[in-house]
Formats: sequence, structure tokens, C-alpha cells
Amino acid sequence: MHTDYIDLGTISEVEREYAMEEAGEIIRRGGLVAFPTETVYGLGADGMNPDACARIYEAKGRPSDNPLILHIVDMKQVDEIAREVSPDARKIMEEFWPGPLTVILPKKETVPSRATGGLDTVAIRMPSHPDAREFIRKSRRIIAAPSANVSGKPSPTLAEHVYEDMKGRIPMILDGGAVGIGIESTIVDMTGDCPVILRPGYISKEDIADVIGQAELDPAIAGRERQEGIVAKAPGMKYRHYAPKGQMILVEGKTENVIRKINELTQNKQTQGYRVGIIATDDTLSQYPTGIIKSIGSREHTETVAANLYRVLREMDESGAEYIYSESFFTEPMGDAIMNRMLKAAGYRVISADEA
Ligand code: TXA
Ligand code: MG
Repeated sequence: MHTDYIDLGTISEVEREYAMEEAGEIIRRGGLVAFPTETVYGLGADGMNPDACARIYEAKGRPSDNPLILHIVDMKQVDEIAREVSPDARKIMEEFWPGPLTVILPKKETVPSRATGGLDTVAIRMPSHPDAREFIRKSRRIIAAPSANVSGKPSPTLAEHVYEDMKGRIPMILDGGAVGIGIESTIVDMTGDCPVILRPGYISKEDIADVIGQAELDPAIAGRERQEGIVAKAPGMKYRHYAPKGQMILVEGKTENVIRKINELTQNKQTQGYRVGIIATDDTLSQYPTGIIKSIGSREHTETVAANLYRVLREMDESGAEYIYSESFFTEPMGDAIMNRMLKAAGYRVISADEA
């Protein structure tokens, strides 16, 4: 299959109109279009068309019990797919939409089980990215969209990542440049008495509690260590996630100790002939004398760490690093959301640099 790659940043207004119309046409015929959102790139299909949804699973190589998020542009669309919307659910949607929040609600019969992995609930999100909004509106459909990576790879934060993974598998990629946030939306389950965060993201538990008075973290994501026997409620959270080809280890502690420890570990492995990658920050970059060193962003602006995370992980693979030592961000703002992804990538291997 030929993959049309449309760079929305360089084309004229008229060409843009035409591309968006074409993208909508592909969706209405049951095909797939990758598009930017403020979190990560999505792989979109008509969410009410089971065959179109099936194509998403095929293109990603995704297990069929892992449900999709339905993307909308208008609050009225909620009632087309949700059976019941509690006043609290309504409040957080009004507060955080359009934006990086996905809300789980009881589903209507009309939503195909192909989209919800057989669950009787549905995940709904209204993205804020202007290209995403125009694409969804032009399609005149509710858009089912997972992240546009091949299953087992990091979510795409650049259209180039989508191209690497989806070239030849889908008819169209809309390139809207680098995404803003860089990690997937916060998922909050609103079907019970207390809102439960199933996946941490840019919108925090505290942000949600500020609006409706309460929110808790799903116990399956609350701990630093993988907790055996606790089953994640978001089916996607249970799968083996992206892990770099090299063995990744997170080093935590006081910054100067972390730097010393990483340098020690790096030299040790290099002596044994291994290629070693280091995930540093802008602030510490110059203090690592050897290794394949990449900055993930600035500790003072943790949103840059989230924005660079998946790209840096992809680059570590490309560099052929066999061991990857990374600074950690447990105590920073957005720490929950960032460490949730980093811990998975590192297979929950964490070393403390502060212990003697
Ligand atoms: O930021 C995002 O949410 C991106 C962009 C494209 O919007 N999308 C995304 O989709 O991350 P995906 O498919 O990679 O992740 C969806 C997650 C999975 O962990 C899935 O299990 C969970 O949402 N999910 C979907 N429907 C659910 C439901 N009814 N109940 C619980 N979890 C659900
Ligand atoms: Mg995903």
C-alpha cells in the first residue's frame, strides 16, 4: 500500500483543505489515517465501523482485547456513545476538554465491541490539537485512535516515527510537527463511586480532585515496583510495554551521586566492550565524559522531559546501546506520568545512588 505523507506545515491553505477532505474520505470508506494530537500521534479509523476498527489492530499488531479511545470534537457526541454521564464526569469533561484527558463511561449499545475490546465501557477523549480537531470534524465521524506506533514500540511524538512504523500499512499520514505533551492522555475511570486514574498523564490526580473533590490512582500503577497479582483496569496497561533493545536501568538519588554512579557503571561496561547509552538532562549533560549521551530535557521544566522521552528511547535503539543508564524523575512535577513510562521501559530496574 502506498502511504501518502502530508506535511501540514509547508502546504498552502487550499492544499490543506484538499488533504483534510481526502483524509475524511479515507475514514468514511473504512480506512486508516495517522494524525497529530497534543499528546502523541494517533492512528484513526471510523469508531462506529467494526471493520475499520479491525484494521487498526491489524496495522499495529495489537491484541484485540485492548480497547481503543474514541475521539470527538463536540460535547454532543458524548451522548451518542455513552449510556450515562454522571454530574462529576460532566464537570471534568467541561474543565479539561478539549485536552489530554480520556474519560471512561458506560457504553451505548451502538458502540461496536470491536472498538471497546468487548468491554461494556467506552473511553472518550476530545483532543485540543487544531489539526486533530479539523481532521475529526472533516471526517464527520467519531474517530477511534490508539497511538500510531507498532505494538511494542514507544508512542510516536513525530510524524517520522509514524512513518517508520506504519509505512506501507496505512494510506495516509498527516504530519503536524512535533507533538506538545509527548506522553499519552491521562485516563480516568468515571464508572464507579470514586474517579480512578488508570493511566497517569499531564493532567494529574490533584488536578482532577481540585474539580470534583476526589480521585485515586489505580493500585496497579501506584507503586514503583511492579506489583505482582494486581491486575490493571486499563487493559493496555497490562501488556509488556516498550523496552529498548539494550538493558535500561534507572538510577535515583541526589544528583551528584547519580552522576557518579552512572559514570562508574558506564566505565565498567565499556571496559567489558559494551556500547553504553546515558539518558542525562540539560543540566548534567557535560558531566558525563563518555558514552552515547542524550539529554531528555530540563529538570526545571519537566514538561520538556515528557516531550522528549519517547524520541530519546527510539534514538537509543538506533544508536545500538546495549546498556542504558538513565537519571530518574520520581519527585519532579509530572513525575508519576514520566516514571510510569520509564519504569516500564526499564523493566522496573531501579538502582539507588545514595546507598554507600
Ligand atoms: O493520548 C492518547 O490517549 C493517545 C492519543 C492518540 O489520543 N491515544 C492512546 O491510545 O494512547 P492507546 O490505544 O495507545 O491507549 C489507550 C489506553 C489503553 O491502555 C486501553 O487499554 C485503555 O486506553 N482503554 C481504552 N478503553 C478502555 C476502557 N473502556 N476501560 C479501561 N481502559 C480502556
Ligand atoms: Mg499506545
